Amino acid sequence: MCGIIAYTGNQNALPILLDGLKRLEYRGYDSTGLSILSRKRIKTVKAAGKLNVLESKLAKPIIGHCGIGHTRWATHGAPTDENAHPHTDPTQRFAVVHNGIIENVDALKATLKDSDTYTSETDSEVIAHLLANHKGELVDAVREVVGAIVGTYGLAVIDQQNPDTIVVARNGSPVILGVCDGAMLAASDMSALSRHTNQIVHLDDGEIAQLTPAGFQVLRLDSSVADKKAITLDNLNSHYDRGGHPHYLYKEIVDQPDTVQQTLSGRLDDRFSTAHLGGLNLEPRDLIGIKRVTLLGCGSALYAAMAGANMIESLARIPVVAEPAAEFRYRNPVIEKDTLYIVVSQSGETFDTLAALREVRRKGGFVLGVVNSVGSTIAREVDGGIYMHAGPEVSVASTKAYSSMLVSFALLALLLGRSRDTSPQQGSRHINDLKQLPDNILKVLELEPEIAKIANKYKKRQSAFFVGRTNGFPIALEGAQKLKEISYIHAEAYPASELKHGPLALVTEKTPCIVILPNDDLLAKSISTMEEIKARGGPVIALTNAQSTPDDRINKLADEVIRVPDSGELTLPAVMGVALQLLAYHSAVSLGRDVDQPRNLAKSVTVE
Ligand code: AGP
Repeated sequence: MCGIIAYTGNQNALPILLDGLKRLEYRGYDSTGLSILSRKRIKTVKAAGKLNVLESKLAKPIIGHCGIGHTRWATHGAPTDENAHPHTDPTQRFAVVHNGIIENVDALKATLKDSDTYTSETDSEVIAHLLANHKGELVDAVREVVGAIVGTYGLAVIDQQNPDTIVVARNGSPVILGVCDGAMLAASDMSALSRHTNQIVHLDDGEIAQLTPAGFQVLRLDSSVADKKAITLDNLNSHYDRGGHPHYLYKEIVDQPDTVQQTLSGRLDDRFSTAHLGGLNLEPRDLIGIKRVTLLGCGSALYAAMAGANMIESLARIPVVAEPAAEFRYRNPVIEKDTLYIVVSQSGETFDTLAALREVRRKGGFVLGVVNSVGSTIAREVDGGIYMHAGPEVSVASTKAYSSMLVSFALLALLLGRSRDTSPQQGSRHINDLKQLPDNILKVLELEPEIAKIANKYKKRQSAFFVGRTNGFPIALEGAQKLKEISYIHAEAYPASELKHGPLALVTEKTPCIVILPNDDLLAKSISTMEEIKARGGPVIALTNAQSTPDDRINKLADEVIRVPDSGELTLPAVMGVALQLLAYHSAVSLGRDVDQPRNLAKSVTVE
């Protein structure tokens, strides 16, 4: 998704804007640009390609204390210099950067003089032209213009006639203000603010903010003043530094013993063998009134939700389903008052997940959020929830947030289970399992050399299958997701029982199959799956928490075996997930992929 950065203050804007654009790179982009008010004139430089192309055009620095910048992820128009933002009006009075989609762009253009010439194919450019047609104050002009937009926007505007003022507006695409002494920033993502401040303000949909070096004022579309206070986020910046690691992805993989500990911290109740989740806004009597649970998420969040569904149903003995958030609103869902709806999202800004949340609430449903980004849109619109406390996740591929989603669902399963049939003894066992999780993840990280060797051995294969039964299937889905999204190796996941109904036709000696073998009642059946694959010549990589025995059939059948520490049903998805993250990471690195910014992907998909 596009990234925006804006600065007005007592320092030169150029280095701050470039640093912000660099911090926004991880979200994925294909062109960049910036505009700075320099000696009462707007200077704009734009470039298709990576940020270094823009920097090469800035050999002569632009001096000025107020400016805006943009990383573009093309939706309307190819990634070219002309289509890059910022866009200006024909008189060069206004410059605007925009994240979102303007659905009524043609209707808006029709309100302007035919003579207006457009220099780009983008929808965003029309905003600058509309501003130039407005005679009033800058903030009033922006309010009028965005009021006419049908679609989504997170935007920032500078105006030659208001040299130190920036106006930002938000509807559907995040805009966060950064408050500094003698300066104000705005950005689409906290990563671009974290080096300058930890005082932030999240704008809500329909809000506009006027920024000057002295501070900010937030207004609504009806011109009323919105009373917004800054919140302080601790050690924000540390999560955005790679800390000497080769990639953010590697840092976030190896940080997981600590981050899952953060998710667990203060939430295990030994006295009653249950979990303590303060933010649910649900009383015990509400918990026993829940007759079913629906989990909603996208991508890896959906796969975490599928694992969470198994956990909650197993412990609480109520029906639980996990479904793609993006499809949910289009099936005109029946919303029931005794169903608990839970949306799960690392960024808290995923458009499809937000839309599903709004569909449930529109129909009167009660929605919790499992969210990582504090103060994000989803976190502010749910009825209650669980913050993952994994710290901002930078790499496009989700790892530490995925694990913390699983831990969050494990805690919720424990709480709901202990409000029903799960006994104190069972609860204590689950608590011990969860307490053991950081150490067990550490033990998996120690397997890295052998996992890297396996990754290297199979890196040239065109396809790979991930198969698992019941609790193993969501693990297989996430394993396939990780491998495909960072190494670009075609990877698919199947329920193991489904292989013989079709996919087995594709198994040859060229298709490595990663078989997930939880040490549970289905272990023997999972081993049979290995035999099915071996009989077709397929190489088998076994991933199991079953400990090795003298005449171990897994050792006999598998070409490779990855043994993770024995773990219970609440923690096995996270433990196995780390092994599969390392497999994907080393496959991608050995293939020279752009590990932190995989092609075609963005960190937070804030458009439909
Ligand atoms: C995961 O590796 C991907 N980056 C992607 O599937 C992601 O999980 C999905 O887009 C949902 O993002 P969210 O958790 O921020 O809502």
